[in-house]
Amino acid sequence: MLSTASHAREGAAHADALTRALARFGHGSLRPGQSDLIADVFAGRPVIGVMPTGAGKSLCYQLPAVVFGERGGVTLVVSPLIALMKDQVDSLTARGIPAVALTSAAGAEEQRDIIDGIKAGMYTIVYVAPERFRSPRFIEVLRAIAGKLALIAIDEAHCISEWGHDFRPDYRRLGAVIQELAPPRIAAFTATATPEVRRDIALQLGMTAPKLHVRGFDRPNLYYSVVKAGGASDKASQLAELVRMREGGVALVYAATRKNAEAYAAELKSAGMRVRVYHAGLEDNVREKAQDTFMAGKLDVIVATNAFGMGVDKSDIRLVVHADMPRSPEAYYQEAGRGGRDGRPTRCVLLFNHGDVRLQEFLIDASYPSADVLRAVWKMLRDRPQLGELTPYDDELEARLRKQLGALGHQVNGAVVGAAVRILERHGMLRRDDERLAATRPEPGVFPVLDVESLQRRADVERGKLRTMVEYAYYPRCRRQFVLEYFGDEDWTNRDKKCGACDNCEAIAHGKQTGLSQTEQNAIRSLLLLVGALDGRFGRTRVTSIALGTEDDPKFDEVVERGCMRGWRKEQVMDLLRALEGAGLIEASRGEYPTIHNTKRGDQVSVGRIDPNELGIQMPTVTSRKQRSRFKKRR
Ligand SMILES: Nc1ncnc2c1ncn2[C@@H]1O[C@H](COP(=O)(O)OP(=O)(O)OP(=O)(O)O)[C@@H](O)[C@H]1O
Ligand SMILES: [Mg+2]
Ligand SMILES: [Zn+2]
Repeated sequence: MLSTASHAREGAAHADALTRALARFGHGSLRPGQSDLIADVFAGRPVIGVMPTGAGKSLCYQLPAVVFGERGGVTLVVSPLIALMKDQVDSLTARGIPAVALTSAAGAEEQRDIIDGIKAGMYTIVYVAPERFRSPRFIEVLRAIAGKLALIAIDEAHCISEWGHDFRPDYRRLGAVIQELAPPRIAAFTATATPEVRRDIALQLGMTAPKLHVRGFDRPNLYYSVVKAGGASDKASQLAELVRMREGGVALVYAATRKNAEAYAAELKSAGMRVRVYHAGLEDNVREKAQDTFMAGKLDVIVATNAFGMGVDKSDIRLVVHADMPRSPEAYYQEAGRGGRDGRPTRCVLLFNHGDVRLQEFLIDASYPSADVLRAVWKMLRDRPQLGELTPYDDELEARLRKQLGALGHQVNGAVVGAAVRILERHGMLRRDDERLAATRPEPGVFPVLDVESLQRRADVERGKLRTMVEYAYYPRCRRQFVLEYFGDEDWTNRDKKCGACDNCEAIAHGKQTGLSQTEQNAIRSLLLLVGALDGRFGRTRVTSIALGTEDDPKFDEVVERGCMRGWRKEQVMDLLRALEGAGLIEASRGEYPTIHNTKRGDQVSVGRIDPNELGIQMPTVTSRKQRSRFKKRR
């Protein structure tokens, strides 16, 4: 056993090695997120580092690599892009750190030299692309140096997840490689903050008890708020008002569908704004023109679908409005995050109407086609390859397949066809080249197996994300804390933390009441009691009519809460049911005719064991102009 003194000596030696290594990178100190993570790498714990772009993830493996290198250790870095690897190798080499990238960009002879160098222990850091792991010869090389392998670092690790935004089947080979080589340390890095992608990374890489480091996702100059909107005309006028009131720069408005994008743009135009639309349904040149005009600062506002954004780096977007409910907190945060790149104060507004949730539910359903449709698309493309011909317009392929599906008795919309193609491609059952989309058989062990159940689970995950967005919309406390906690950001786990820069923090600071009135609390309790009494046998519509007392079926005579919402409007009760769902008090079954039931929490609220004020329920907006609101106006 080591004495305390020798422990201290060893610790000091390690600290020296770290300081020396850091100096080689020309940095004065580590950033807070980096030091914790690097300590875990040294401790030999598998780590997953989730940090935003530019946070300095590379240093988290390069620094340990240099320290290991002093003792002859080799670090293998898996990275998906040759250009990225090249940049890193150049800058490491310039700092006197022996690094190399083994890529297909090098000629055969050069590759042989590199491999010899790796075997001879010439390099401290070796970058490889995931395709390398296809080659048995390369695996041989790795076996030969396995004893010297100090760390395997996987950069852009979200590429391993079929549900990430950038799935690379070759990343799937890594699991087996890691299992065989059993490196003493393994670290994965990504900027993607999706919880299930992180879980997938750990699972696919076979990490046991990985330490998750999530840090740095806050964007302090973004001011978040939710504005309740009534029907379409209310939304349009609020939208125009928001754009008009922005403080300089330009506004970006996101819509859930192409049709909505066009409609909002038309409204903004008639309100006198310089506006362009951007979505995937436009001709390339129209879209490019819109983007160029936007980039040139010649617009007040651009209205877009989520097709907009990749690579858009305009620094003075002063306002990002989501005119429709986005489908997930991830999408929302990323899209809102396009604002304020220059670091100046920027508003991110969610225009919220509870009815919009239904649109997103519909879109989620369309994203998960049935097994029959998937099978039919694959068979069609196998039996009649000419159907897979690719033209410059995505829509043409979709329309063609849709027509053929219709002839086979599958009446589906274009979104379903698009989703089927994407899913089949992701599972290696369709392959695309320049000319056509062709049916293939997936390569086993590389492409994830396509099973319908996992698609269903995936759809449930998406519905869960949508519910989280609804919760966000109704959340009565700090919105920044809500989102950053969802992402797992270690600095924002405390529910009482306040950012001071969101509508709720401001309202709380100004002493505005954000709680529910007694009448509202009573309404919530009786509706939950009714749902509890009906015991999951009926859907929203039926529950609503029983609540309103308009349902005169004698079988409900015994139900005490029947008519408990008398005098309310049907839409209000429906919306309240949705709001209670959003707050996790009611759950709907799946399927064509969903029935609703209370969750455990819902039951507890109904009997007064939990205070509804604790749950962030906010009463739905009243949309009718004729009927006076039964709700107290709060803002
Ligand atoms: N401790 C530090 N002190 C100062 N600068 C740093 C530090 N760590 C990293 N940097 C700098 O931050 C920049 C971004 O680093 P890096 O490329 O590693 O980011 P990243 O997290 O990998 O981002 P991406 O997701 O875009 O790949 C680099 O210019 C790097 O030199
Ligand atoms: Mg990086
Ligand atoms: Zn806040």
